[in-house]
Amino acid sequence: MTVLDEILSREEFRGLSPAEFFYRNREIAGFSNPSRALYQTVRELVENSLDATELYSILPNIDVGISIVSEEKNIVKVSVRDNGVGIPPKEVPNVFGKVFYGSKYKLRQSRGVFGLGVKMAVLYAQMTTGSPTLIRTALPKSKNVYEYQILIDISKNQPIIVSNKVYKNKSKWHGTFVELTLEGNWSSARSRIMEYVKRTALITPYATIRFKAPGIEFSFKRVTRKLPPPPGVGKPHPKGVDIELLKQLIGSALANDNSLTLHEFLTQVFDSVGTKTALSFLKWAGYDPRTPISKLSISQLDDLARKMKNYTKWRRPKPHSLSPLGEELLMEGIKGILKPEFTSAVTRKPSSYGGHPFVIEVAIAWGGQIPASDKPILLRFANKIPLLYDEGVDVSRKVIDSIDWNLYKVRFPAPLAVVTHICSTKIPFKGVGKEAIADVPEVEREIEIALREVARRLKRYLSRIERQLEVKVRYVTISKYIGEISRALSIITGKDSKLFEKRLKLMVNQKILRKEVKVHETK
Ligand SMILES: Nc1ncnc2c1ncn2[C@@H]1O[C@H](COP(=O)(O)OP(=O)(O)OP(=O)(O)O)[C@@H](O)[C@H]1O
Ligand SMILES: [Mg+2]
Repeated sequence: MTVLDEILSREEFRGLSPAEFFYRNREIAGFSNPSRALYQTVRELVENSLDATELYSILPNIDVGISIVSEEKNIVKVSVRDNGVGIPPKEVPNVFGKVFYGSKYKLRQSRGVFGLGVKMAVLYAQMTTGSPTLIRTALPKSKNVYEYQILIDISKNQPIIVSNKVYKNKSKWHGTFVELTLEGNWSSARSRIMEYVKRTALITPYATIRFKAPGIEFSFKRVTRKLPPPPGVGKPHPKGVDIELLKQLIGSALANDNSLTLHEFLTQVFDSVGTKTALSFLKWAGYDPRTPISKLSISQLDDLARKMKNYTKWRRPKPHSLSPLGEELLMEGIKGILKPEFTSAVTRKPSSYGGHPFVIEVAIAWGGQIPASDKPILLRFANKIPLLYDEGVDVSRKVIDSIDWNLYKVRFPAPLAVVTHICSTKIPFKGVGKEAIADVPEVEREIEIALREVARRLKRYLSRIERQLEVKVRYVTISKYIGEISRALSIITGKDSKLFEKRLKLMVNQKILRKEVKVHETK
């Protein structure tokens, strides 16, 4: 036996369940220490609650509670209650106890994407305190409230139902309540969590969020009852396909109709592909539009996928699967939370990268309660999720730092905040913790265009203020000499100095007023 044979004979091979993988590598999902884990738990629960309300046009009412169970052992209880659509009772165990299980694997903008978030919190609670997660839920008009206590069988990636009860739904409630007991450091997570809730309120001005934690109780009441229109479910764009996706799509299309032709397949299954576009593409790619898709060989599929990716004349993906906030709501949110003296927002037209539609929104806020700092305060959002960590590697920071703010009359330290929001069916996050956006050139470009637009508006505002200030300074300066001039005139003419004083004051006022009028006219 060679040394290599000996080593190999001792090696053991086995698979790893998704739950076990994330249990071992929890840092990549944001659960790296008791402080970060507490923040991440609040975030996962709040984001699920917001999805469960606004995706269904329900004005969100969300209650977040944090209490200390043991100060000495750093054990806290976190609960979040919402008025969303609830969860069908039979789905509750998998939704909370099976990694990669959820309802958001669709081409539609939502906060949730991976089917992972709440399971990470359940896993973390289970491994740090051994406690199951408590869930109560009721669908709209449900006569009952369903209660579960769930743990996860890590090696099998299966839920363990610790208890299961049914109550009468006396208050006709619908929504979901989740409570977890976990190791968490409230005092060190406190400021991040509060900032997170505050920024969530900014980007969801139509939500009421109540927050209760040791020594703190506050609520952000909705400042508007207007909700952005909910996103529709989109189709895949031909630019974003690969051979695997193509095989999957052909498989499900054939299950419905096994005589489907290539031309029919392209127009029925893909986004933004009409008859004309499909024919032009097939001509360019060298395929007969009448070919039945069931007859395509693997090498043809490979070729087709490559050509779909490389074809440059596809129309842009349709943006109906996106739900940006809109300029008006974004400014409402900013006014309600940052209380600035000036704000302006831009929602860009839809754009796309790699076949995924996206919309960039950028707003600027100046003065008022914004503290002066050495560079712009950046508030980043992706699909209405506030991003608080890893700002240094985010594309928005890169764009903001590349701008010469002198061009826009901003001299630091200045009370300047910039809000960036990217909406997409596929946010180019740098990791599953969803904290930073990668620098995709198309996204970077859109952010820069929007930022320069709002920066120009800020410049106009600052110029106006500057001119008003100049006028006031001039008035004060001139006024200082009125008394002296009046006395001199009185000596020369022998008339009462009060008369001159009155006339001169009137003249100065009229002149200054005329200037002020001019300043306003140039707005
Ligand atoms: N408060 C809630 N109300 C209604 N449904 C919920 C709620 N919380 C979770 N769910 C359901 O549970 C599923 C799993 O949630 P989970 O947070 O694990 O994943 P996700 O939100 O789909 O994606 P992500 O991993 O990005 O958070 C969701 O897709 C949703 O269907
Ligand atoms: Mg989630």
